[in-house]
Order: sequence, then structure tokens, then C-alpha cells
Amino acid sequence: MHVTHLSLADFRSYARIEVPLDPGVTAFVGANGQGKTNLVEAVGYLASLGSHRVSSDTPLVRMGAERAVIRAAVTQGERSQLVELELNPGRANRARINRSSQVRPRDVLGIVRTVLFAPEDLALVKGDPGERRRFLDELITARSPRMAGVRSDYDRVLKQRNTLLKSAAMARRHGGRGMDLSTLDVWDQHLAQVGAELLMRRLDLIETLQPLTDKAYEQLAPGGGPVALEYRSSSADPEGAGPQAARSRDELYARLMAALAGTRKQEIERGVTLVGPHRDELLLKLGQLPAKGYASHGESWSYALALRLASYELLRAEGNEPVLVLDDVFAELDARRRERLAELVAPGEQVLVTAAVDDDVPDILAGVRFTVADGTVERA
Ligand SMILES: Nc1ncnc2c1ncn2[C@@H]1O[C@H](COP(=O)(O)OP(=O)(O)O)[C@@H](O)[C@H]1O
Ligand SMILES: [Mg+2]
Repeated sequence: MHVTHLSLADFRSYARIEVPLDPGVTAFVGANGQGKTNLVEAVGYLASLGSHRVSSDTPLVRMGAERAVIRAAVTQGERSQLVELELNPGRANRARINRSSQVRPRDVLGIVRTVLFAPEDLALVKGDPGERRRFLDELITARSPRMAGVRSDYDRVLKQRNTLLKSAAMARRHGGRGMDLSTLDVWDQHLAQVGAELLMRRLDLIETLQPLTDKAYEQLAPGGGPVALEYRSSSADPEGAGPQAARSRDELYARLMAALAGTRKQEIERGVTLVGPHRDELLLKLGQLPAKGYASHGESWSYALALRLASYELLRAEGNEPVLVLDDVFAELDARRRERLAELVAPGEQVLVTAAVDDDVPDILAGVRFTVADGTVERA
């Protein structure tokens, strides 16, 4: 798919802007702080209902304005659609498809698809496990928009279970009578049910992503691999068998239930849920070593890029080609990696690139250029 028109109102630094877009490569060039990332961030928001830079919507609304609107015309094959999101920080966001009826923001997922490369991606390799869980879960949602519901169910159940554990922990500390734990049993079942679904998707994703990531790493840094993705689960059994050993959702459910039973005493002491997908880790290995803590800066970059390229291959293979967004990444790379990355993304249906100066855009990505300056976006 590709975006044929992007309109923003009170989004970030833009009061109002209309940007017609073509398929193929488009580069947005301008000095730092002029609003390049703001543009592509808006496209990414339509695809994931979130920003790659901030976790709350508040900074996305132009200072002094009440709400922001992101609107995009999208073409997929013969089909054209108009999607619109209104961001209302502190209140529910609103969505429309083809101007007509109100839909839930979640219903917009899947119309715009993106794979976004950004300097922040280095945190995929060097950052906390939460970064890698988010990477997996966002890709799961891109593959299957229905999973947005499962993710938010899981977050809700987890929050409620934690609240219950916290009050159990409080009650214990204050020497009160033990609380009725049958309620906790019910929350265990909820958590294990939704958790098993999420876990199954993650395991399936990793299996698919593994060979694609290894291939992409080899293309970016020949001879530098192999890379391996390993899922380390908080619900692995005492013999160390991970959930990979389980092949069905029922088995994953049983495993989660057993793990919850095994840690319940500890959970009540600490007042927090200690097992479940929110505690799992995606281990990124380079050769025999974990990338985090061992890989060089350049290797970490190659790894992060390989994960994004693999995501792109996967989404493309599954039918609807995503828009590739490369936000300020070429400036971060040495000449070799730059050229290789450019060659790999150049054939994409739509590629949106941002760069501070023309020279940062590799020649092979010649296409439409826009100059971004002072809140204006002009075709060069
Ligand atoms: N909510 C907002 N309201 C007004 N201006 C904003 C808002 N969020 C960010 N900005 C401004 O946008 C600019 C950064 O834009 P960005 O797209 O990140 O720049 P770059 O061109 O370097 O990628 C900064 O000058 C910042 O002050
Ligand atoms: Mg930027």
C-alpha cells in the first residue's frame, strides 16, 4: 500500500499542512528541528496508534491546541481509503474511515502499514527487555490487527491482578487476616488465557522472523552473523523447558497457570505479577553471545536494521506491502551499511526518507524531494 495524501492539523509543530505523496521514494530534507520527523511520526501513528518517540499523546498535539488530526488517503491495489484520527489527550481518541461513520481507533489498524527505521531503534538491541517486547507486540498487531484487542485485554487484566496483589501484600504487612484468594484464582485464569494467546503469537512470530533476520543481517554485514532470536520466558518450567516446547494454546495456558501457582507466595509478598508475557525477554544473539552488552556499536546498528528489514520482508510476504519510513538513519551509518541499506529498501512500493542534508540521502534513493523548513513542506 502507499499513502497518496497526508493532512495534519495541530499535529506537533504543524498548524495545518497538506502533503501530496507519490509511490516510490520521497525524501524530506531540512535542518534539525524543522519538522521532518513530525511528518513521518504521523504516518507511523496511523499504522500503530502510537508514536515511536513518546508514549503519551500529549506532546503530539500542537502546543496551545486542544486536539490533533491526522488524515491520510491510502491506496492498496485498486482500493482507495481515507483514514482519519483525532487525538484528544486525556479523552478518547476518535477515528473515521472514508469520512463516514465513527469507528473505534483500533478499526483503523491495518489500513496504513509501516515499517519505521529510526535512531531510537538502537534501543531494540541495547535497551531494556520492554523495548524488544514492544517490537514483537507491534509487529504481531501489524500482522493481525485483531491482536490490538488481546494486547489491551492483557494490560487490563495485569493491572487488575496487580492491584489485587498489592492489597493482599498490604493486608499481610498490617497483620490483617489473609484476604480471600479465590478472587485471585479467577484473575490467574484470565491472565493465563489472554497471556497464552499473546505468547503463542510471539513464538510463532519469532519462528518466522528468525531466518529473515539472519538473512538481512548477512546482507547488511556479510560474514558477521549468524544471528539468532531466542525467547526467554518467565513461565519456563523448573527443568528449564521454555514455552517453545509447548505447541498449543492449551499447553501454554497450563504452563502459565502452573508458573503462577509456583510463584504465588512470592507474588503476594511483593504485590506484583512476576510471570507472564510482560516479564519475558527476547534474547538477541550474535554468534554465541548476546548482542546486548557484547556487540559493538556498528554490530548493534546492523542488528537493529536487520530486525526492521526482516519485519518488512515478513509483512510484504503476507500480502500488503508496508510503507518504509527511514527517519534520519543514514547519517548514523558508515558508508558501507548506508549503501547496503539503501539498495535493500529502494525497490519498496513507498519509501519515506528524512535527512538533514541532501548528501545524507544515498544516490540510489533519488526520488521526489521536499524541503522542510519552519513548519512548511515544499516540493523541491
Ligand atoms: N506539540 C508540539 N507543539 C509545537 N511544537 C512542537 C511540538 N512537538 C514538537 N514540536 C517542535 O517540533 C520540532 C521538532 O520537529 P522534528 O520533526 O523532530 O524535527 P526534525 O526536522 O529534526 O526531525 C521542535 O522544534 C519542537 O519544538
Ligand atoms: Mg528528526
